[in-house]
Amino acid sequence: MPITISPAAQAGGLTAGALTGLRRSILLADCGVMDGHPEALIDLGAIKNNVSALVRHVGAAQVMAVVKSDGYGHGMIPSAAAALAGGATWLGVVHVADALALRQAGVTVPVLCLLGAPGAPHEDAIRHDVDLSAGSADLVAEIAAAAERAGRPARLHLKADTGMSRGGATAADWPGLVAAGLAAEAAGHARIAGLWSHLACADIPGHPSIAAQVEAFRKAVQAAEAAGARPEVRHLANTPATLTLPETWFDLVRPGGGAVGLSTLPGGAPAWLRPAMTIRARLVQVKRVPAGTGVSYGHRHVTSGPATLGLVPLGYAEGIPRHASNTAQVQVRGRRWTIAGTVCMNQVVLDFGDAHVEVGDDVVLFGPGDAGEPTAQEWADALDTLSYEIVTRFAGRLPKSYLGVTGSMDPVLAGARTGPGMIREPGAGLAAAAGAPGAPGAPRMAREN
Ligand SMILES: Cc1ncc(COP(=O)(O)O)c(C=O)c1O
Repeated sequence: MPITISPAAQAGGLTAGALTGLRRSILLADCGVMDGHPEALIDLGAIKNNVSALVRHVGAAQVMAVVKSDGYGHGMIPSAAAALAGGATWLGVVHVADALALRQAGVTVPVLCLLGAPGAPHEDAIRHDVDLSAGSADLVAEIAAAAERAGRPARLHLKADTGMSRGGATAADWPGLVAAGLAAEAAGHARIAGLWSHLACADIPGHPSIAAQVEAFRKAVQAAEAAGARPEVRHLANTPATLTLPETWFDLVRPGGGAVGLSTLPGGAPAWLRPAMTIRARLVQVKRVPAGTGVSYGHRHVTSGPATLGLVPLGYAEGIPRHASNTAQVQVRGRRWTIAGTVCMNQVVLDFGDAHVEVGDDVVLFGPGDAGEPTAQEWADALDTLSYEIVTRFAGRLPKSYLGVTGSMDPVLAGARTGPGMIREPGAGLAAAAGAPGAPGAPRMAREN
């Protein structure tokens, strides 16, 4: 059957190749079956809808969906396809290899490698039209040499350090970086496609560094443009800035966490963003024990009365932080239970007291929260970290299942496309409704990977 692609999806860079690659990666990636059926359930409809909402939120600015670190653990290529279907017009990754994987999957929109690094495969990147960041004149020279070898100009984003003190040129080094970029442009080895920087404290409302960085960025842009740079895009905003700081939006915003329904702002993401990852498994053993029974390594939990213990086949090797011991909560049969005792390498125990549970019951570590299960944000709050760290911990360690693919994103599997973005709209979406296949507590759908 021929693959048909909607004009909107084509405009978003979702090509037949992307879909074929997407389908192949879903079928073949992470195909290991683990005992106890643990899985990361990824709601691609949520990613698509989150990006659509962010696109509407920022109005005239473009949206670069940052899908680094395997799409924040959600699967880079499926997440990228969902983000493009939602209206993102750029993608951001860290490594050139990730950008090339996106190209191989058929993604045609601009892809920026956020980390500028000497010795990276710049020539490959240039041949595949991948945008490169440079924060030093030396790196511009290295990229220009790679462009000469590739026989085509590199697309460069010059990075200013406006106060994060991570990558990028300081104010003192900025004129030299701009001059190097312009020289490479004049020699035909580069095109200055972007000027950019990154905020240190966008998730600390009212922090004085925000205004200082915005001002420093404006000055850096003015200086570069006065020197002759004609960038397509100037960009500064991550998720918290995209959500709360319109003065940081410029031509393009770069949400990563926001695309998967998360934020580092106090209190997490607004309700109009939906967390896209659910982590769940099944109880593999249930048994009664007497009062005073020590549980797991170190007996850091002791039963207060006769109790039913349940064994969950997930531990720190699969992504549960060890300091979730006696702290993080999970959901079984609609109730929350705190992990009992020490998190082991591949297992944790739950103490159900006198509640009835059975082998095979679903255990939801975290999800979107609408069936009462904990969220990644709640885990992060309990463990004094970020929701981003919680979701990325499970990347590559659990099989993934995808919602919003069958019957929606992949017209081959669906038999027909269902909407302009390929994923069903809210309300009709597989994932939007609690109790839908794959939703916490609902019957499981066939694994698609
Ligand atoms: C340079 C850069 N831009 C954008 C992002 C996306 O940040 P967020 O996930 O908060 O949107 C990151 C994440 O670390 C980043 O390093």
